[in-house]
Amino acid sequence: MTKDLVNAIAIDGPVAAGKGTIAALLAKRLKGFHLYTGAMYRCLALCCLERDIDVTKVDSVLSALSEIWFDLDGDIVYLNDQDVTEKLKQRSVTQLVPKVAAIGKVREEMVKRQQEIGRKKMDMGKVVVAEGRDVATKIFPDARLKIFLTARPEVRAKRRYEQMGGKNNATITFEDILGDTNERDRRDYERKVDPLVKNPEKMGYTLIDNSDLTEDETVEAVVSAWNSHIK
Ligand code: DC
Repeated sequence: MTKDLVNAIAIDGPVAAGKGTIAALLAKRLKGFHLYTGAMYRCLALCCLERDIDVTKVDSVLSALSEIWFDLDGDIVYLNDQDVTEKLKQRSVTQLVPKVAAIGKVREEMVKRQQEIGRKKMDMGKVVVAEGRDVATKIFPDARLKIFLTARPEVRAKRRYEQMGGKNNATITFEDILGDTNERDRRDYERKVDPLVKNPEKMGYTLIDNSDLTEDETVEAVVSAWNSHIK
């Protein structure tokens, strides 16, 4: 094994490729730790909502961040020792979180904390599984395995459509969701901060297209890549 690599699996990829689901299943499968980085941004957004903090005031957001701590335990998320797992799914949180996640100083502090949490788990002998755009570039650039998880746009749009109720949801059509997915991909590839990588294999990622794979098969594909990387 190369010494300078850390026992982390970084998962990146476009919207609705199943990164979160696969990271959680994979952490269970490898008896590792799922570092759900998005939850930490969601916690900060929740805290801003509950304290009525104006998120355009960077100092107020940073001050709130300095007063909170996170704990992740499987699928449970704790904010200052309180289980906030369900609260984090609220629409108001989902809507506010991109605003707090866009603040550079918030990102710097989050990356620091994510590295600390991850390293503690690695010191305990656990594999850290994390998904998100900055995992392979900023949090664990020396991750032993970097996965680029993707699927054809139509497949990803279908997953999102089904999650939103599919034909039972009269307010959306599959074509709307496909249009949104393509637009989101375009923005993700073109954005200035942490854009989606265009040639993942050239950038050291193992590419997994799960268009025709089940969740279990996708997990197995990552486990097999992991096993060949730790040899
Ligand atoms: O994965 P999620 O939807 O729970 O992420 C919540 C938000 O946090 C979303 O707006 C993306 C952002 N995020 C981020 O900026 N950096 C990360 N490493 C993880 C999530």
